[in-house]
Amino acid sequence: MKILITGGCGFAGSNIALSLNAYYKNAQVTVLDNLKRRGSELNILRLTKEGIQFVHGDIRNIEDIRQAGKFDVLIDAAAEPSVLAGINSSLDYLIDTNFIGTKNSLQLAKEYNAKVIFLSTSRVYPIKTLEQIEYVETETRFKIKQKKKINGLSDRYGIGEDFPIHGARSFYGMTKYASELLLQEYIDLFDLNVIINRCGVLTGPYQMGKVDQGVVTLWMAKHFWKKQLSYIGFGGSGKQVRDIMHIDDLSDLLIEQLDNFDLYNKGTFNVGGGTKISISLKELTDWCIKITGNTIPMKAVAETRVADIPIYISDCRKIKAVNGWKPTRSVKTILQDVQLWLEENEKDLKPLLA
Ligand SMILES: NC(=O)c1ccc[n+]([C@@H]2O[C@H](COP(=O)([O-])OP(=O)(O)OC[C@H]3O[C@@H](n4cnc5c(N)ncnc54)[C@H](O)[C@@H]3O)[C@@H](O)[C@H]2O)c1
Repeated sequence: MKILITGGCGFAGSNIALSLNAYYKNAQVTVLDNLKRRGSELNILRLTKEGIQFVHGDIRNIEDIRQAGKFDVLIDAAAEPSVLAGINSSLDYLIDTNFIGTKNSLQLAKEYNAKVIFLSTSRVYPIKTLEQIEYVETETRFKIKQKKKINGLSDRYGIGEDFPIHGARSFYGMTKYASELLLQEYIDLFDLNVIINRCGVLTGPYQMGKVDQGVVTLWMAKHFWKKQLSYIGFGGSGKQVRDIMHIDDLSDLLIEQLDNFDLYNKGTFNVGGGTKISISLKELTDWCIKITGNTIPMKAVAETRVADIPIYISDCRKIKAVNGWKPTRSVKTILQDVQLWLEENEKDLKPLLA
């Protein structure tokens, strides 16, 4: 089996590549990346020393993908993944990578009759509808308490696949949803074998966290190197909540999906830590203090940024019902693994994350 992972030097792509390479002993895993994300270059050696092939290429150019060779499985993990992309950076780059790049990858997947797993995002759900979610405030977090019915929303489980999809969702969310629509056309017209995983916040080692993307590792890094952080938005209380998922839980899911592709084929699934593995920024601070032993100055910025939402939890009942998959790594495990990664790679990571 030949597996191509686009964006394979990124956080998700590199961790997935190593997991698949270790599990499928006879597979040839190739990663293609243009190394746009700062720090992605650090993964080249980490991957190649395990026998993974690295191709320096850009998915905006189909010939670059072709040069990676024929593949049986495509994991689409190349993207500009910031929700602020297109606002604080080039809209052309965002659309050309996240949409045209996916189109290029799909053209070859069709040509090679390959299976496709697309890493989509919870950001496909529209911001204004997410803002209608009602919540109560506890001492450390917001908690869903919905009075007015919204389809696909449950106080206990969060946001399911039936949540209304119509409305603006950020440029980033738009590019991912546009790719989902394109995938649906490929499924319908060409019977392409595709799984769409709408991931909530993914995190863990090798995530090059920055203010607009990768908040969990950013939080840990700032505590580790005793810098400063800010609670931004929602009155500056730090009570906004997300479910988070260890990247190894996603790798386990992809292995499950590749081993049992027919069970998931042509499906769209919300994937994340769910209510059990969710956290507010305030709670994250407490965990970071516990794990790093460091307390740092925390500023409060009351004003909410564009596209920020107070609460998102993935309702994973649909994917769980397929064959029992569920994430197993706790918040504590995630943060301990990040701490270990920071300790072991302090010299390389300090200029990037501190
Ligand atoms: N990290 C999350 O919390 C999260 C959540 C939901 C979905 N996702 C999706 O998972 C995928 C991977 O995200 P990530 O967190 O690993 O981001 P990342 O930035 O760490 O990785 C993306 C990789 O793609 C590469 N890349 C960017 N533009 C490219 C181009 N034009 N050609 C080739 N390579 C290019 C980057 O250099 C980087 O290595 C993305 O599709 C993202 O939308 C991520």
